[in-house]
Amino acid sequence: MGGWKSIADIRREYGELSLSKETALDSPIEQFQLWFEEVLKYEKNDPTAMTLSTVDKDGLPDARIVLLKGVQDGSFIFYTNYQSAKAQQLNHSAYACLNFYWPELSRQVRIRGKVHRVSQELSDEYFASRPLKSQYSAIASKQSAVIKNRKSLEQNLNELIKKYGQAPVIRPEYWGGYAVLPELFEFWQGRDNRLHDRIQYYLENNQWHKRRLAP
Ligand SMILES: Cc1cc2nc3c(=O)[nH]c(=O)nc-3n(C[C@H](O)[C@H](O)[C@H](O)COP(=O)(O)O)c2cc1C
Repeated sequence: MGGWKSIADIRREYGELSLSKETALDSPIEQFQLWFEEVLKYEKNDPTAMTLSTVDKDGLPDARIVLLKGVQDGSFIFYTNYQSAKAQQLNHSAYACLNFYWPELSRQVRIRGKVHRVSQELSDEYFASRPLKSQYSAIASKQSAVIKNRKSLEQNLNELIKKYGQAPVIRPEYWGGYAVLPELFEFWQGRDNRLHDRIQYYLENNQWHKRRLAP
């Protein structure tokens, strides 16, 4: 394995894709959908994976990957445990950043927005659509809590399966969705010679405006 020097030397050139204020669509949601449809054709692994950044009560940042499960009414939706570390951070500061990185097309999308819980009906609907074992796991695992070992986790899951068998599981109230309503977007398109394209969308008087940022 190479040392740090060789890591610093890793770089690559990007393709012919570009983005400008003129070609970027007026609606950042539509621009996201356009890029996302293209990404789905090329990105084999986890195209819906996004880094979710939050801030804790001491102002310290935190980040982790979650999966995008839909874009509804202009909001980006993910599901998680409402007692997890991220949920506690969101209780304290209801703002988050989402970051998508799609290496196949050299694209990054950054989104900042206010976060709220989705309706219980929507969480119920999505929970019911998950594979049964994932439903049980949501109950068996107290996300972000310190646990003794892996065995206790597996025991919890096995006990639930034994107890309930194949019966449909009711969504626990501590599990559900969040919606991030964007206030700022940045679309980043990798270009050759490090002269990348960065188009930022910001809100003014409830209207989206675009500006180009230096790479
Ligand atoms: C590819 C990938 C997808 C993930 N998707 C989710 C998800 O949709 N929801 C979730 O709660 N955790 C998901 N996780 C796990 C989170 O990254 C994280 O470990 C967990 O949510 C606990 O985070 P917290 O302690 O900061 O709350 C995913 C992890 C990876 C690597």
